[in-house]
Amino acid sequence: MDFGAIRQLEDEFQIATYKKMGIAVERGLGSWIWTSEGEKYLDLYGGHAVCATGHSHPHVVNAIKDQANKVLFYSNLVYSELRGRAAEKLVSIAPPSLTKAFFCNSGTEANENAMRMARMTTGRGKIVSFSGGFHGRTADSISATFLGKYREIGKPNVPGHVEAEFGNIDSVRTLIDEETAGIVVEPIQSMAGVREAPPEFFKELRDLCDETGAVLIFDEVQTGIGRTGNWFFAGSEFAADVAPDIITLAKSLGSGIPVGACLVNERAASAIKENDLGTTFGGGMIAMAAVLATLEAIEMNGMISNASIFEQYLRDSLSTVSEVAEIRGKGCLLGIEFQDKCAPVHSRLLEKKIITGTSSDPKVLRLLPPLSTRIEEIELLINELRTN
Ligand SMILES: Cc1ncc(COP(=O)(O)O)c(C=O)c1O
Repeated sequence: MDFGAIRQLEDEFQIATYKKMGIAVERGLGSWIWTSEGEKYLDLYGGHAVCATGHSHPHVVNAIKDQANKVLFYSNLVYSELRGRAAEKLVSIAPPSLTKAFFCNSGTEANENAMRMARMTTGRGKIVSFSGGFHGRTADSISATFLGKYREIGKPNVPGHVEAEFGNIDSVRTLIDEETAGIVVEPIQSMAGVREAPPEFFKELRDLCDETGAVLIFDEVQTGIGRTGNWFFAGSEFAADVAPDIITLAKSLGSGIPVGACLVNERAASAIKENDLGTTFGGGMIAMAAVLATLEAIEMNGMISNASIFEQYLRDSLSTVSEVAEIRGKGCLLGIEFQDKCAPVHSRLLEKKIITGTSSDPKVLRLLPPLSTRIEEIELLINELRTN
């Protein structure tokens, strides 16, 4: 089918809820995708922050194929060596206090379960989250999302959500009390325009939670799985080495197979009893094969250090480009703030067959490339930005 026919087909039978690029993807490999018209695009948006290992990494593809030939699925009603090994591997790379995993299917579901665990751990109801954070589109997650129109489209919101100012510990202090079950924070606010807070802020959040008994949740749906140049933002120097009580994950975790997870400490895990949490597809075999192979591929190919190399190279190379006001973010989660609106740059790059992302800040172009992206590939972007 040519592109026109594909577009017509999708538009006819799908609700028009996404603003799409004018291309149809046929296949992908590493940092590249090929379209229905046989054109090749450099994907610095990483399939929507999902393809950390690059498109169709052979190790991940083979693991999924091998598993598909054994059994596609069985739920948590049976044991599975693969599920056990995936959970063990995730726990082994997490901050040491996070000792248990819970698998689900998406980022919003991971956050729903994390907030439920916070309420079950504390017996309280209130959740503090931050202006600019994005946590997903199901009821509790969208109620914690103080960004743009999200809470509005999620109405009626779940009661008990309050908004603090990101990076301002005093604003948290005025909101947190004996009714507070948890604090949910997106450590680098990606969709808001790659907004960051200093490491001390995370230490102060940890201290406040310790003082009040509230559960600290890091939403690492974007920052997790190596993207910032560390396995997790939690426990890294960017978080002043502190660990939350729960980390939530999705996006990169399965290299494109839908999977989410909560990594949980003993305090929160021990508050959960049989049947308190659950989901049919969580921990299914294809998803678990993808998780394990994703983590192995990241390790085998040195992708975490590559993420830091990517960041440094881009920062150095763009330091003399006058249209660039600031570069924010870490590793392979970067926001390039332009002096003016970035939409024309985004469109121009797309014409040159380079895919990037926008954000809710009109001046900020986002890069969420595969962690495997090579210097010669970044050069293609840099050349385009330098020549205009
Ligand atoms: C930080 C963050 N949290 C949660 C979500 C929701 O994840 P999902 O779309 O898998 O439900 C997203 C999705 O963009 C996200 O960026």
